[in-house]
Amino acid sequence: MEGHNAQDPTEQVESARKAFEQEFGRFARFIEASAELRLPLSEADSEQRSLKELRTRHLGKKSALAASKKLIGRVGPDARAAFGQVVQSAEAEIASALDQAEQTLGGILQTLRNERESIDVTLPGRRPRLGHRHPITLLRERIEDIFVALGYAIEDDREIETDFYNFDALNIPQNHPARAPQDTFYTTDGFALRSQTSTVQIHAMQRRGAPVRMIAPGRVFRRDTPDPTHNPMFFQVEGLCVDEGITMAHLKGTVAEFLRRMFGPSTVTRFRPSYFPFTEPSAEFDFSCFKCGGQGCRICKNSGWIELGGSGMVHPNVLRAVGIDPQRFSGFAFGLGIDRMCALMYGLDDIRLLFENDVRFLEQFE
Ligand code: DAH
Repeated sequence: MEGHNAQDPTEQVESARKAFEQEFGRFARFIEASAELRLPLSEADSEQRSLKELRTRHLGKKSALAASKKLIGRVGPDARAAFGQVVQSAEAEIASALDQAEQTLGGILQTLRNERESIDVTLPGRRPRLGHRHPITLLRERIEDIFVALGYAIEDDREIETDFYNFDALNIPQNHPARAPQDTFYTTDGFALRSQTSTVQIHAMQRRGAPVRMIAPGRVFRRDTPDPTHNPMFFQVEGLCVDEGITMAHLKGTVAEFLRRMFGPSTVTRFRPSYFPFTEPSAEFDFSCFKCGGQGCRICKNSGWIELGGSGMVHPNVLRAVGIDPQRFSGFAFGLGIDRMCALMYGLDDIRLLFENDVRFLEQFE
């Protein structure tokens, strides 16, 4: 302390100048090097902050130089002017060194920031990854196109149903054995996931009355254990046509035309008598194998035929359930599974592949 106070004011200034020079040297070297080297922006930023601190330390109100300035008035009159000069020139020297360093560093920072923000227009763009439509969607859309061309409306309806729509209105009373193979998943009391798209027949007739022509593609649910040909959730398409004078001939003609448009003009359709509670008479339909044309192959298990769906003339009880007069109107209905058809057409040996959502699988269809 004593030594410092006793120091000659000129020497004091000199030592302040030296102290600055010593600290500043590091910056000068850094700035020089960084003009050549590429340094990270964050480092240049922190360097700029340190430089500001350096200025405060050496030119600020609490700096040694500021203390020396206060001494000017106390120096004897003959030495005052000379001392004033010394202080001033030290201050000017430090200030100009700092100014220059700040300017250079500022320039470097600007360049770095520009570089970071600039866009290299020669870089190839990042392609948005295009999705694919699911194979079931592709098939559903083809089916829809065909039926729309035949004058059918597309109906979309709820997947959670009451017993009335899933069974009762479709002429499947409580305890009817036909309920058993369609055991489904129950939600809250009185509600269940629909086990067939036939429910949409009822909704459509309630909404539109007769005449009506519609198809309803959609998801259905059954309590099946998953295996290569079963999944507890799968897709069906329902068809319904109700009008005056509709006969079995209309059913056969429509299904046959649909399958010709789907699988080619030489496709043959076959109807086999069957039973469904909501149709009378009922028939299942098969079509000649799209792969071998009926010769017999792996796909049709050598039979030449592929079984596709059920159909029939709408049961009068179903028409009555929705307030349509069966004396005046008649109709046909049909239903088929999309997943099985999809698996056959794309040669899938396991329908569960359709529901695993593995993009490597899904990407293969378009
Ligand atoms: N709903 C039936 C099922 O899931 C399929 C079906 C058969 C629908 C005959 C119909 C039909 O519209 O007439 O097994």
